[in-house]
Amino acid sequence: MLKRLREIEEPVSFTFDGVQMQAQRGEMLATALLAAGIGHVRRSVVSGAPRAPYCLMGVCFECLVTVDGLQNRQACLLEVEEGMVVESQRGAPDVLAHFRDEKRQQP
Ligand code: FES
Repeated sequence: MLKRLREIEEPVSFTFDGVQMQAQRGEMLATALLAAGIGHVRRSVVSGAPRAPYCLMGVCFECLVTVDGLQNRQACLLEVEEGMVVESQRGAPDVLAHFRDEKRQQP
């Protein structure tokens, strides 16, 4: 478990699986979740085993979550934003939804 060394001075609110949480402004989402005591953020596609952020630098992909309806977001590469709705990811992502989301992000 990750422990905060300092109190949150500039709070940013977000939800994880419907639970209201706070992070320090500028904090990365994976770090905020770990500091909040979240043990896992997704389930393995193959075995369903719980998985948690590991490398915290965009390499392992263990931190995949759904953010504001977009699947497969790497929580360690995303800064927490006010009002962000974060959901844990279970099993294989919906491939069609993934491509719909990518299309939605294009200008
Ligand atoms: S924690 Fe490894 S890619 Fe995010």
